[in-house]
Amino acid sequence: MKTTFRLRLLTLALLTSGAVLAQVRPGPPGPPNPPPGQLGQPNPPAQAGFGQPLQGLTENELALFRQGRASFLEVETPEEGLGPIFNGRSCVQCHGVPAAGGSSPINVTRFGRVQNGVFDPLTALGGSLLQRFSIDPDVREVIPREANVVAERESTALFGLGLIEAIPDAAILANATTTKPDGIRGRAAIINDVTDGQMRVGRFGWKAQHATLLAFSGDAYRNEMGITNDLFDEELAVGIDATRMRGCDAIPGTEDVRDPLTRRRGIDNFASFMRLLAPIDRAAGDALTRDGERVFQAIGCAACHVPALVTAPSRSPLFDRRPVPLFSDLLLHDVGTGDEIRQAAAEPNEIRTPALWGLRHRRPLLHDGSAATIADAILRHGREAGRARAGFDRLGDDERTALLAFLGTL
Ligand code: HEC
Ligand code: HEC
Repeated sequence: MKTTFRLRLLTLALLTSGAVLAQVRPGPPGPPNPPPGQLGQPNPPAQAGFGQPLQGLTENELALFRQGRASFLEVETPEEGLGPIFNGRSCVQCHGVPAAGGSSPINVTRFGRVQNGVFDPLTALGGSLLQRFSIDPDVREVIPREANVVAERESTALFGLGLIEAIPDAAILANATTTKPDGIRGRAAIINDVTDGQMRVGRFGWKAQHATLLAFSGDAYRNEMGITNDLFDEELAVGIDATRMRGCDAIPGTEDVRDPLTRRRGIDNFASFMRLLAPIDRAAGDALTRDGERVFQAIGCAACHVPALVTAPSRSPLFDRRPVPLFSDLLLHDVGTGDEIRQAAAEPNEIRTPALWGLRHRRPLLHDGSAATIADAILRHGREAGRARAGFDRLGDDERTALLAFLGTL
């Protein structure tokens, strides 16, 4: 009964966002599902298709993946804790294109105030994340008058994030200290991981604001959906008086409680789904794309978009010392596109190098979706990436074609 109801709600949510979904352009064509390991690339094993689990899961892991996926698709209601203010009713609503675990054309908005060069997230006024929707017509969050910075953030795809989580802090820190070409710095985002209070290297989110998938799950559940949990246990209630709050908060305590049967919380389920979600394989290449890969190295793109990092030793063969071909150093850089928002360890002008795997399935590009094409995104690089950008400008037609063809296989 309940499942059918939920499924219907999900269909409804997908239908209502159908107009938006229809706008997604698929990106440059390429064989969609090449067998893993083509070109001798260090591909972690993945099953063909999107939204599939990593290959080689045990029965138990497969059960966790399926259970996690079901929670990720679940459409929440106010009776289950949704709101009072929120941005989405399910994870998949913003992470569902081209399959569960993907991205979507839905953005979120951040705001704040910069005064005398100092950023204020306007926490007391509900910042820095805006929640657009509400379950009560009298309760609404708006961008306050005090805000003089408003920034958009694209939803990101979650494919392969378990492998990124398994990269040891030391590997990211090592990249921060190696000598790099002129002008490139790169800072590791040292953050306090809310799951255990340890200082870790942040790697998830445009500002590298979280180090673990569990922490991001807790953050998203409360901040995007209004569902309080063990990691983020305070309801978003800025400007709502206590009486009204009682009226629109059906579950006064922590809303994400353990399932009596599995003993797992929603946030545990989201984390295991994302952890076991396979990355998108590279499309088949040819002589042209191999030339393009050499250009990518030669003009200095690979200094930040590091082709692969290796996971730490692990008892799980899924994550044990695997090369992760993500094309990112996971460091914070100023490439001239900063959004003026200070968040976690990131300065207002810094963005974490995005991974380029799966690039051919994502449009628009950049943190705010301001680049329609790969070439547009490259042309927005400046500052630390100034030299690489100049290298791109100097390329002859053939080299440029080769570089773009290579990027089209990612
Ligand atoms: C309203 C849309 C929306 C909803 C709902 C939503 N997300 Fe997201 N998600 C985003 C956006 C936008 C970003 C990028 C945010 C940023 O970095 O500032 C993001 C980023 C992430 C990331 C970081 C990915 C990376 O590549 O570093 C994870 C993990 C994530 N979301 C998980 C979840 C989970 C789990 C849920 C459900 C509990 C969820 N999200 C619900 C919009 C959403
Ligand atoms: C100094 C580090 C650095 C260098 C060098 C660099 N990039 Fe980037 N790149 C970044 C950062 C940081 C972003 C994210 C900027 C944003 O979203 O505002 C980015 C974004 C991108 C994107 C968009 C990805 C997405 O998912 O939105 C592409 C494509 C890209 N870079 C390709 C290149 C190419 C090709 C080169 C070489 C010409 C290059 N980059 C050089 C750091 C770098």
